[in-house]
Amino acid sequence: MSEFIPLAQIDEVVEAVRKRIHHQPKIALILGSGLGGLADAVVQPDIIPYEEIPHWYRSTVEGHAGRLVIGNLEGKPLLVMQGRSHYYEGISMAQVGLPIRVMQRLGIEILIVTNAAGAINPDYAPGELMLINDHIALMAMAGLNPLRGPNIPEFGPRFPDMSQAYDRDLLKIARRVADEQKVGYREGVYICLAGPSFESPADLRFLRVIGADAVGMSTVPEVIAARHGGMRVLGISGISNKANLDGNTITTHAEVLEAGKMLVPRLTAVINGVLRALP
Ligand code: HPA
Repeated sequence: MSEFIPLAQIDEVVEAVRKRIHHQPKIALILGSGLGGLADAVVQPDIIPYEEIPHWYRSTVEGHAGRLVIGNLEGKPLLVMQGRSHYYEGISMAQVGLPIRVMQRLGIEILIVTNAAGAINPDYAPGELMLINDHIALMAMAGLNPLRGPNIPEFGPRFPDMSQAYDRDLLKIARRVADEQKVGYREGVYICLAGPSFESPADLRFLRVIGADAVGMSTVPEVIAARHGGMRVLGISGISNKANLDGNTITTHAEVLEAGKMLVPRLTAVINGVLRALP
């Protein structure tokens, strides 16, 4: 599994995708576990299964369809990743970041990224949305960063800023839309762990102490690559389960997928509204 993906290889992927699409999207949307249903509303879609894209990792996780859907939503050309890959599947961080690199070379400027997450904040309940206002890049702090390796200056600088990883203007739009659509929401800090095992109660107490509100196994590597390449990012977690801080309940992937059914209509309302509000 390559630890570093050179620009020439990224551009091979870009060419393969470009040949199969009829749209010029400026916005991309990544759909997390159990949230793929959002892609069904895309109009005039060009659909590319991941296995037909060179160098692209095909997600093995249940609840991830594994295809690109490129078309129009709310009148805006959009590239949707219906399913994503995760570090725990056995790929490198560079491979986790590859789709973002491809988006950047395709000219995409805005990334809307979603995930299913466990609530660490005791006030949160399954079925709620959390607008991500910051993240803790615990894996990246420990060396698992998609930018590891030679810097590719065509994307951005060696030492990119992460002080505003989640775009303040997009957050403002998302808050306004959620209010208009009467979709309740939280706002908080997302932390990405490698997984695939869920957290122990002691893990969760640690995550709470360091300031995380919700925990998952994705998003942060993608956001780091996105910000490196200058994309503006809106991140939304769908709270799928309460973290098991006391050790008295059990967390399952089935529960995460089940919560998706509650989350999809709420996410759809917010994302469609944000798309309408974008120029
Ligand atoms: N922990 C980690 N990842 C998750 C969880 C969780 O509780 N729920 C959904 N993704």
